[in-house]
Amino acid sequence: MRTWISLAVLLCATAALGQDTKSVEKLAPYYPTPETVVERMLKLGGLKAGEKMFDLGSGDGRIVIMAAEKFKADATGVEFDADLVKESSTRIRSLGLEKRARIIHGDIAKQDFSSAALLTVYLLPTSNSKIRPLLEKQLKPGTRIVAHDFTFQDWTPIKEEHIEDDGEGRSHTLYLYVR
Ligand SMILES: C[S@@+](CC[C@H](N)C(=O)[O-])C[C@H]1O[C@@H](n2cnc3c(N)ncnc32)[C@H](O)[C@@H]1O
Repeated sequence: MRTWISLAVLLCATAALGQDTKSVEKLAPYYPTPETVVERMLKLGGLKAGEKMFDLGSGDGRIVIMAAEKFKADATGVEFDADLVKESSTRIRSLGLEKRARIIHGDIAKQDFSSAALLTVYLLPTSNSKIRPLLEKQLKPGTRIVAHDFTFQDWTPIKEEHIEDDGEGRSHTLYLYVR
């Protein structure tokens, strides 16, 4: 009897998780930022040791990992793809960065970014417009946002940086905003 109850609970939980994943709106495909550009983003964002940063859609975790490892920040990634969450969390553990870095398996649209000093964003332009109201509501004054390649409509960047060649022949533009 107890086994059946446990099984039923497990099935309900799995169904709930499945629904949760299905309801997440994909704000961009996985397309990683080259490491050289990651460093430029974090420098442009003026990231300092101990500051809280979030990468919105953290992919393989490279931005979170560099923020924690090289800049000694308190770094959190949000990612809905379970495989990428597993890959990035494993790398964080293998580098011994668990105290300063973590990945939340979830939807960007459902997070609380109010504690952030810096956000990094590499999402589609339409997605930036979708999350903008959430950020305007949550972010404390002075929060910096570094956007890779795509701007936030109606926000004016205080600085732009163009990278002509990332070493693989691709150019990039970074935009720094302060709320
Ligand atoms: C263009 S990639 C950027 C990855 C990483 N930030 C980087 O710059 O290397 C966008 C990432 O956002 C994730 N993503 C898209 N929509 C999401 C959502 N609603 N919640 C959480 N992650 C999402 C994708 O799975 C993908 O890994």
